[in-house]
Amino acid sequence: MEDIKEIDEQRQGEVLTSDQLKSGNKKMYIESYGCQMNFSDSEIVASVLNKDGYQPTDQIDDADIVFLNTCSIRENAEQTIRKRLEKIQVDKKKNPNLKVGILGCMAERLKSKLLEEEKLVDLVAGPDAYRKLPELVNEVDEGDKAVNVLLSREETYSNIDPVRINSNGITAFISIMRGCDNMCTFCVVPFTRGRERSRDPHSIIDEAKKLYEKGYKEVTLLGQNVDSYRWSEDESLRGRALKEAPRDKVVDFAKLLDMVAAIAPDLRVRFTTSHPKDITDDVLYSMRDNPNVCEYIHLPAQSGNSRILKLMNRTYTREWYDEKVNRIREIMPDCAISTDIITGFCTETEEEHEDTLDLMRKAEYDMAYMFYYSERPGTLAAKKYKDDVDLATKKRRLQEVINIQNEKNLKKNQACIGKEYIVLIEGNSKKSDQEWFGRTSQNKVVVFPKKDFKAGEYVKVIVNSCTGATLIGEGLEKVQHD
Ligand code: 5AD
Ligand code: SF4
Repeated sequence: MEDIKEIDEQRQGEVLTSDQLKSGNKKMYIESYGCQMNFSDSEIVASVLNKDGYQPTDQIDDADIVFLNTCSIRENAEQTIRKRLEKIQVDKKKNPNLKVGILGCMAERLKSKLLEEEKLVDLVAGPDAYRKLPELVNEVDEGDKAVNVLLSREETYSNIDPVRINSNGITAFISIMRGCDNMCTFCVVPFTRGRERSRDPHSIIDEAKKLYEKGYKEVTLLGQNVDSYRWSEDESLRGRALKEAPRDKVVDFAKLLDMVAAIAPDLRVRFTTSHPKDITDDVLYSMRDNPNVCEYIHLPAQSGNSRILKLMNRTYTREWYDEKVNRIREIMPDCAISTDIITGFCTETEEEHEDTLDLMRKAEYDMAYMFYYSERPGTLAAKKYKDDVDLATKKRRLQEVINIQNEKNLKKNQACIGKEYIVLIEGNSKKSDQEWFGRTSQNKVVVFPKKDFKAGEYVKVIVNSCTGATLIGEGLEKVQHD
C-alpha cells in the first residue's frame, strides 16, 4: 500500500484563501494536514461549500465554521490535530456559535468518537463524503451533530472544479485516483480512504487544460498509487475486469501521462506516488519520450531487507527493487529518485536494519522521507505482529538512515555545480525577495537572482554552489517552448 508524499513541514496546518469565488455571507476556515491528497481535497471542500454560500477566510475569528482536514498516517500526526482541536475549544468559548468540523483520514478512522466521547467537534466527514457537506453543515446549523464516514467505490469528485487555495498560479495538483488496494501491513490508508478507483481521463484533461489556460505551468497528478491508474470507456470493463481488459480499450497511467503531456509543451507534468511493483516500462518510456514530463520518481522502498518487505506486504524483494531502480536509470540516466523509509518495523533485527542502510548508500536517492514505525490501530501489522522494537532503537536507526541521506543530498547537489538546468520559476525565494525560487525537472530546488525574469517563466540556470537542500545559481536566458 502506498501513500502519497506528505507536504513540506512548513505547509502543515496551512490555511485556505482563494482566487475564484462566488459571493456569500458565511465564512469557512480550513486547515489541512498530511499529504498532498489532503491539500487537494481541501480545494474540493472549498468548492462544494462555496456553492453553498461559504467564503474562505484565513482568520479563525471571522469564521462561522472551522474545518481541520486531518491525517492518521502516524500517531504524531493525530496528536498534532488533537492539540489543535483543544486550542480551538478556546476560540469556541470566545465565539459559542463557531462550529467545528473534522474531515479526512482521522475523521474516517475515529468516526463519531470525537463527537460523542470527546465532544470536540460538531461535524465529522470522511474523504468520500464531501459532496454531502452542505447537508451536514445544515444539520449542525439546526443544532444537531452530523456524521458521514461512508466510503465509496465510485467517488472521484471528477465533476467538481476545485477552488485553488493559496495558489501561486503556476503549479497545481490534480487528483487522478482515490483510495488504495495494496494493503501494506503498516498502513492505515486503505481503511481511511477506501478502495482504489480511477477518475475519468476526460475530466482530468479538462482540468489540466483549464489550469493551463489560466497560466499554470505545472500539474502534479496525484494518487496513492498512480501507476495502477486504469480506466475504460467501456462500462462492462470497469472494476475487476479492467485488469484483464485488452490494452486498446484501457487508459493506463502511461497513456494518461501521454495525454496530459500533449496539452502543451510548456506545461510540466509531475506525478506522485509510485509503487515499485506497478511502475511499468511504458510509464518510463512515456517519461523519457515526453520532454515536459519531469524526470523525477518518488519510489518508496520502505525497507532494504526482503524479510521485512515481506512482513510489510510490499510484494517485492530487495533485489527486485534494486532492479527497478537500475531500470529507471537505464531508460533515463538523469532521472531523480526519492524514497520513503520506515525504521524499526515489527521484529526488525540490527542486521536487517543494516540492509536498509546499505540500500541508502547504494540507491543514491536524491531525496528521502524517513520515519520510525508507528503502530496504527486496525492495520494488519497491529493485528498480526508485535511492535517489539523499542522507541529508542527505532529512533537511533532512523537517525542512522537520515545521516546517510544528508550526506547523499549534499553530494548529489554538489554534482550539479557547473551544470545548466531548465528551471520553472515558482515565486520568491524564502530568504530574499531579490531572488527567484524554482525547480528543475528533477525536482531540485534552485534559487537565483531575479534579473528581468518573471514568475512562471522557464529559465536556463547555471548552478554555481549549493547546500544539501538548495542549488544556488544564475539565470542565463529565458527558454521558449515551441
Ligand atoms: N509508521 C511509520 N511510517 C508510516 N508510513 C505509512 N504508515 C506508517 C506507519 N504506520 C510512511 C510510509 C509511507 C509514508 C507516506 O509514510 O513510508 O510511504
Ligand atoms: Fe494523507 Fe490520509 Fe495518508 Fe494522512 S493518512 S498522509 S491524510 S492519505
